[in-house]
Amino acid sequence: MSKFKRIKGTQDIYGEDIKYWDFIEKTMKKVFLKYGFKEIRTPIFESTDLFNRGVGEGTDIVQKEMYTFEDKGGRSITLRPEGTASVVRAYIENSMINFGSPMKLFYNGPMFRYEKPQAGRLRQFYQIGAEVFGTEYPLSDAEVICMINDAFKELGLNNYTIRLNSIGKKESREEYKNILKNYYSDKFDDLCEDCKIRYENNILRLLDCKIDTNYAKNAPSILESLNHEDKMHFDSVKKHLETMDVPFIVDDKIVRGLDYYTQTVFEFIHEGLGAQSTLAAGGRYDNLVSEIGGNSTPAIGFAMGIERLVMALKSENIIIDDCEDIDVYIVNSGESAEFEAVRIARELRDKGIKTFMNISKRGFSSQMKHANKLNASFAVIIGEDEIDKNIVTFKDMESGEQIQVERGWFVNLILEKLANK
Ligand code: HAM
Repeated sequence: MSKFKRIKGTQDIYGEDIKYWDFIEKTMKKVFLKYGFKEIRTPIFESTDLFNRGVGEGTDIVQKEMYTFEDKGGRSITLRPEGTASVVRAYIENSMINFGSPMKLFYNGPMFRYEKPQAGRLRQFYQIGAEVFGTEYPLSDAEVICMINDAFKELGLNNYTIRLNSIGKKESREEYKNILKNYYSDKFDDLCEDCKIRYENNILRLLDCKIDTNYAKNAPSILESLNHEDKMHFDSVKKHLETMDVPFIVDDKIVRGLDYYTQTVFEFIHEGLGAQSTLAAGGRYDNLVSEIGGNSTPAIGFAMGIERLVMALKSENIIIDDCEDIDVYIVNSGESAEFEAVRIARELRDKGIKTFMNISKRGFSSQMKHANKLNASFAVIIGEDEIDKNIVTFKDMESGEQIQVERGWFVNLILEKLANK
């Protein structure tokens, strides 16, 4: 047994799961490129202030969940809890406005939040996300949502709904916050401990409390507080989504847990995942770029949790081809066979054939067992006899059929067999 265990809330990703991860990452990249996004990779850690400012002092993330430490130079560093603040920082710092506007960026990487671990909620988790800078036009909100929907279809997912809301710009929101404060004032004593704190510093979050759900259900709707500009924006997003044939449900209780949102917010909810059912989420954030020190730049984006997507794909029994399967296992024994195996491996790999050559000191039968364990499609067997006759023995691992083939011809045979598989 290993002396060490992985840290609570982290996981090792390997074996069967890798094919899900690979499928999700490749599919998302394909979809992003189809929509004209470019990739960005930012550091995993940033200065703590970026997240204090970017994510917001009143959020659960900043108050309780950040992995913050002092480095050897005395700087306060935080492992990124999400991607948006970092991408905004990079957008400003690298003057990406010069690359044309709007600018579409996507990213994929680990995020860190000190949350209570449970299925679908980890302390190190992976997000794939995207941000669009430089347009406040409602068509861009609809296009981002449509793109996520395209991606989910391409992944094969069916069992999800898109929840859409608008929390307006500051003016509408301030009015609504007062209405909400009034509504909750005579219920204050009944609220859960977290909500009592949120009542003071982040009242909107009372709407997505998992405990005080009845109060939230009957709370006044934020949509009633939207001013003309916000209402027009929201109506336009909805109209575009209808034209794009993207089904959605307006859910006025969606407020999101981060401070930076303005107007459009949305969540993709999976029906088969229990408590942690939000697969993807995002919204518009027109003030964040200027709050972090850039020129006023409207923006919209989203992020999705890879771990939750894997769970969703499994819950919908979506079968994915193995991305790590082995085409040919080269079984060899004896010194001259070993040299021949090296030459054969070179030939096969040069043709793009996934090849595992025996690289240990072990007998034929142990090598065949290994080939089976690795699920190789074919085995090529080389011993002294094969070398003398200038042939190889070729075995179809599925049917068990074994034939001897001329050395000069067998690579073609493998290519033919693989093409017909
Ligand atoms: P978020 O809602 O905090 O938004 O996270 C987005 C997604 O990341 C969630 O819907 C979920 O799938 C996944 N996720 C979040 N926390 C965890 C966790 N502890 N364990 C596993 N998965 C998790 C953001 O992070 C925003 N930056 C999204 C955004 C981008 N808004 C605008 N642009």
